[in-house]
Amino acid sequence: MSTHLDAEENISAPPMKCDPMSFHELVDCLESQSTPPTLEQLNIWLANARISREDLRAYTGFKEGNYWRHRVFRNDSVEMLVLCWRPGHKTPIHDHNGSHGSVRVHEGVLWETIFVFDEDKGLSYRQGRECPVGEVTGADVPDIHQLGNPEISGQDLITIHIYAPPLGVLNTYKVGSAVIDLYTPNDFPA
Ligand SMILES: [Fe+2]
Repeated sequence: MSTHLDAEENISAPPMKCDPMSFHELVDCLESQSTPPTLEQLNIWLANARISREDLRAYTGFKEGNYWRHRVFRNDSVEMLVLCWRPGHKTPIHDHNGSHGSVRVHEGVLWETIFVFDEDKGLSYRQGRECPVGEVTGADVPDIHQLGNPEISGQDLITIHIYAPPLGVLNTYKVGSAVIDLYTPNDFPA
């Protein structure tokens, strides 16, 4: 039996939790959320969605110096972003300050580094790993991490992010320090 959902025939029926969605069906699905979806649900949606480069064309653009965040959608429950990274671009070390998030690698190689925080010792490295195209990685509420496109990758990186609830002010950290700073991502195009 096919699990394909025909949008016209099922106009009043929301997609089943695990049914693959097109990019536009995924955005519609997110727009219909009135409470923040779980991290598990975000991971399932992103892992199963069919997303082409053409779908992301309006959200694809790079700049020098820092990665570029392109917002696809945001309501009170959830938001979706496309991030475009040149080699060497990376986030600050941060947590999501109460939000959870799921990331899918669309093009290139994502490097994720995980840290642990101790009030006495401060922040320390825990592990790093490479995420290839198609991989979906989730960050739960207490996770502290850094994402980036390695300088030596030799290629651009495009990633798709869903956060629930939407990101606000993030906590940022430095290795070896117990100081926690605040950071508001604010580099959207006009
Ligand atoms: Fe993050």
